[in-house]
Amino acid sequence: MADAGVAELLLKKLESADSGVDSQDVARDLSVDHQVIVGAVKSLQSLGDLISAEQRSSKHWELTGEGQETVEQGSHEARVFKAIPDDGLPQSELMKLPSGKVGFSKAMSNKWIRVDKAHEGGPRIFRMVETIEDSVQEKLVQIQKGIADEVDEKEKNELKKRKLLAEVTVKSYFITKGPSFSTTITKQETDLTPEMIASGSWKEKSFKPYNFEALGVTLDCGHLHPLMKVRTQFRQIFLEMGFTEMPTNNYIESSFWNFDSLFQPQQHPARDQHDTFFLSDPAVATEFPQDYLERVKKVHSEGGYGSQGYKYDWKIEEAKKNILRTHTTAVSARMLYNLAQKPKFTPVKYFSIDRVFRNETLDATHLAEFHQIEGVVADYGLTLGDLMGVLHQFFTKLGITKLRFKPAYNPYTEPSMEIFSYHEGLKKWVEVGNSGVFRPEMLLPMGIPEGVSVIAWGLSLERPTMIKYGINNIRELVGHKVNLQMVYDGPICRLDS
Ligand code: PHE
Repeated sequence: MADAGVAELLLKKLESADSGVDSQDVARDLSVDHQVIVGAVKSLQSLGDLISAEQRSSKHWELTGEGQETVEQGSHEARVFKAIPDDGLPQSELMKLPSGKVGFSKAMSNKWIRVDKAHEGGPRIFRMVETIEDSVQEKLVQIQKGIADEVDEKEKNELKKRKLLAEVTVKSYFITKGPSFSTTITKQETDLTPEMIASGSWKEKSFKPYNFEALGVTLDCGHLHPLMKVRTQFRQIFLEMGFTEMPTNNYIESSFWNFDSLFQPQQHPARDQHDTFFLSDPAVATEFPQDYLERVKKVHSEGGYGSQGYKYDWKIEEAKKNILRTHTTAVSARMLYNLAQKPKFTPVKYFSIDRVFRNETLDATHLAEFHQIEGVVADYGLTLGDLMGVLHQFFTKLGITKLRFKPAYNPYTEPSMEIFSYHEGLKKWVEVGNSGVFRPEMLLPMGIPEGVSVIAWGLSLERPTMIKYGINNIRELVGHKVNLQMVYDGPICRLDS
């Protein structure tokens, strides 16, 4: 049945009704699905004041399939009772009946039957009474007849527990005539045309009001992935703080820049196959600043600049190995080296946000690749206090004000601090990043002047993004299992709100 037809039938019903009609009753009378009536109500409402409709919800009891069966065949306990002849029935036989298990225990507690455990040939069941009254069946019959009120609530809940009865909520509209009620639907005009003005017919027409609630047509355009939206926000924060972005467009790095230049010894476990992805082609890098490389070799193997070094046999072969960079600090190292080659040192504030790779065991929060956010500040006389201050400023811009620092270890920073913030939702301190002051063993071989210190920190982009977008499993954010609708629907990101 067409919707317009239903709407008119609904109006006819309303015309002859004293007060109003219930949409469920109308659906039953017209033998249509209730949703069709709801549709008709909505479309009539959009035409103005033809009708008014008020939402209602009512609860009523309905028999389940098993409840229906009980009405027809009696309760399980009654069926068990009836199945027992005068001379009894072996318990094993009784249990084979479809109603056996449930019926047996109910009939026992009703004291309708008893078990003779000592009976020869195994336990045998006997009737204890002549006749029974199947009150379960009776109550269900009453409810089915629509006289549910005669069964009290406690009993109904009991039957519900036995899954014989279910309480269903029915939503409906109570529809009444509106101020401009009529049984005919005149289509409202959506356009005022020159013809209507010329002929004056607009005076008789009824116009559809503007719907200012309507959503616009969704634009057919590209959508940024949440990670990219959050990256834009972090980039904005760094730019506001006067930082310059470092060029991070090389996923492949030599071990030299990723580890050696950062004073990370060649036996360090992070340089293992299990933690780092090594390249097979090209397996090695060939070009290094030779004199700097010599100074790095020296500081590792012999020490210098007031340091003892690690005192081991530093090998160029190890430094040459190409890898997928494990942190963006490799880029910071290159940048600081470049800075040191300038004729005169100038203070800098650098940042980067890009991809890094680690040979991790994959789980809900770890993939073999993620994005790092890194900030680096180099100037004369910077202290740990400056690092804490800049971290406070940075995290405040993210909307995080409660910070705590915990001593940590990185081969390239001393002191090093893990950064914790208080999570209001989780009501605990959670780690949000890592930081430190770069070691002289890293900076001085580069040619950074004495007296200059470099403070730096790093965090992941994925973690704040998952928190911001309420994603629990990283596989829903990155990789082939990502639901593109999530990307499409994702709201824009404002970190401090
Ligand atoms: N590179 C460190 C990491 O991968 C982060 C960091 C950057 C720590 C700068 C200290 C200074 O976790």
